[in-house]
Amino acid sequence: MPTPIRLGVNVDHVATLRQARKTLYPDPVAAAILCELAGADQITLHLREDRRHVQERDLTLLRQTLQVRLNLEMAATADMVKTAYEVKPDMATLVPERRDELTTEGGLDVVSQRDQVRKVLRTLRDAEIETSVFIDPDVDQVRAAHRVEAARVELHTGRFCDARRAADRAHELSRIVDAVKAAAKLGLGVAAGHGLSYDNVAAVAAIAEIDELNIGHAIVARALFVGLDRAVRDMRALLRRARA
Ligand code: PXP
Repeated sequence: MPTPIRLGVNVDHVATLRQARKTLYPDPVAAAILCELAGADQITLHLREDRRHVQERDLTLLRQTLQVRLNLEMAATADMVKTAYEVKPDMATLVPERRDELTTEGGLDVVSQRDQVRKVLRTLRDAEIETSVFIDPDVDQVRAAHRVEAARVELHTGRFCDARRAADRAHELSRIVDAVKAAAKLGLGVAAGHGLSYDNVAAVAAIAEIDELNIGHAIVARALFVGLDRAVRDMRALLRRARA
């Protein structure tokens, strides 16, 4: 029996479309509920410091309505820790944040910020929030995540997804596999995400130790044409096939 893999759907992109016009629609909360009905195991969202997409209201309503897991991506700041304490997501994933980036362009550098990350993770754990750090697929970062007592890591798959040449893609995949193995050996739960799409997800989903994928842009983009229900179900089917 293959290990199950959780599908976390990232609804930030629905909020981005709403904020483009500062309208009430499309509502990421409604989108999250449709994702849940279509078989998503988790809803992921990133409350950024500049509030460019997700708003506090989204997070609060999701906490009150979701029946599946809520994964809050957050910067390792005092303000965000306070928000996490108030909302109590099932999991908090520490991510780096730069105002000038289009999206989360790299992983958190845990190696160089060990003390700060350890402190934030400890505080979150005290509130019974499961902890994860979003890091590049790099064995040193994995070891650092273990040293700061993260329960889980999420590996950044952006470079693998962006690679165009087969050799580059194979190289990036091998970095992911090495990081996954190192994390699993240290007893860390392993997720992956960023840039995953219907075309590239199979190779990552086939890595047996990965128990969660967080996918947003590709699912929301496909939903424009086929609807959210179908978009989530299509992704679920690919994950199932990759594990079969
Ligand atoms: N995981 C993390 C930690 C992210 O920051 C993001 C992007 O917001 C994702 C997963 C989803 O990436 P994408 O939208 O490219 O699928």
